[in-house]
Amino acid sequence: MRIAVTGSIATDHLMAFPGRFVDQLLPDQLEHVSLSFLVDALEVRRGGVAANIAYGLGGLGLVPLLAGAVGPDFGEYEVWLKEHGVDTSAVYVSAERQTARFMCMTDQDSNQIASFYAGAMAEAGRIDLRAVHARTPLDLVLVSPNDPGAMVHHTEQARELGVPFAADPSQQLARLSGAEVRQLVDGARWLFTNEYESALLRERAEWSHADVLGRVGAWVTTLGAQGVRIDRAGEPTITVRAVPDVTAEDPTGVGDAFRSGFLAALSWQLPLENAAQLGCAMSALVLAAVGSQSYEIQPAALLDTIRTVYGDDAAALVGPHLQGRPS
Ligand SMILES: Nc1ncnc2c1ncn2[C@@H]1O[C@H](COP(=O)(O)OP(=O)(O)OP(=O)(O)O)[C@@H](O)[C@H]1O
Ligand SMILES: [Mg+2]
Repeated sequence: MRIAVTGSIATDHLMAFPGRFVDQLLPDQLEHVSLSFLVDALEVRRGGVAANIAYGLGGLGLVPLLAGAVGPDFGEYEVWLKEHGVDTSAVYVSAERQTARFMCMTDQDSNQIASFYAGAMAEAGRIDLRAVHARTPLDLVLVSPNDPGAMVHHTEQARELGVPFAADPSQQLARLSGAEVRQLVDGARWLFTNEYESALLRERAEWSHADVLGRVGAWVTTLGAQGVRIDRAGEPTITVRAVPDVTAEDPTGVGDAFRSGFLAALSWQLPLENAAQLGCAMSALVLAAVGSQSYEIQPAALLDTIRTVYGDDAAALVGPHLQGRPS
């Protein structure tokens, strides 16, 4: 199954300031503040929703097609993604803007000063899925958080092409208009939200729960430590519990990893319940690691988790698809 993953590609630059911001900020001089903080640690983490999801799909043995916009600085990140099975041929490289970047400095009190530069993401709408589809036919287009115009554009292109699409508006819901939300969701084969976003979506779109279900194939709502719920019109709700007792190191990217596991299992034509189980198992891997692409998929350990939490039958369904994956 050929999945185009559209959405953001970004890096996080995390710095530690070995002092306190309050000691540097002079209350009577704030009108012409000019400060430079000497930081003693800089960590660069790879991220961006589309890149995270593609990384997970690649790790599970698919060859996802990443479709997002980056800057000329993408080189090293691209090598990393390719090494993890991601097809980067549809990535758009801006000539003028750098790859989106989150810069955050944290002091000893855990106070933060941060900036987010959207950069090349603003040009994501230039990716033409029709041309991509003409080269190699797509089976699914995932529309994840991105430049809002690009999200609408890619959804429309998928509709025009008759390719099923999955709506994953997530954190971009906050800045989408009601009309945009309705455009992104209407006719989606899959809709992904977390619990908060499910309420925000209904409010923004001015649709009831039943209205939404009448417009999508299935609505997948992740519930944090409670797991996941899948609703479909006229069908009983499916619930799957999360992996218990995970030592949570860093929650960044749990939602993205869930989508990787869920979509990979669907590409193997597994039932929805089993797809949600693999999604939860992938989320648990990310939760136990620091960063959203620092986990490694060990097929045997992943299968063990599935067997322990969801039982032998569940493991028997997933097992054959993980076999042959490098451990
Ligand atoms: N504390 C936890 N323990 C075990 N699994 C968890 C925990 N928190 C999240 N998960 C797993 O991750 C999945 C997604 O979590 P959640 O609903 O918090 O996503 P999210 O809010 O979109 O996260 P984010 O946007 O920060 O990536 C859940 O369905 C669950 O399987
Ligand atoms: Mg999320």
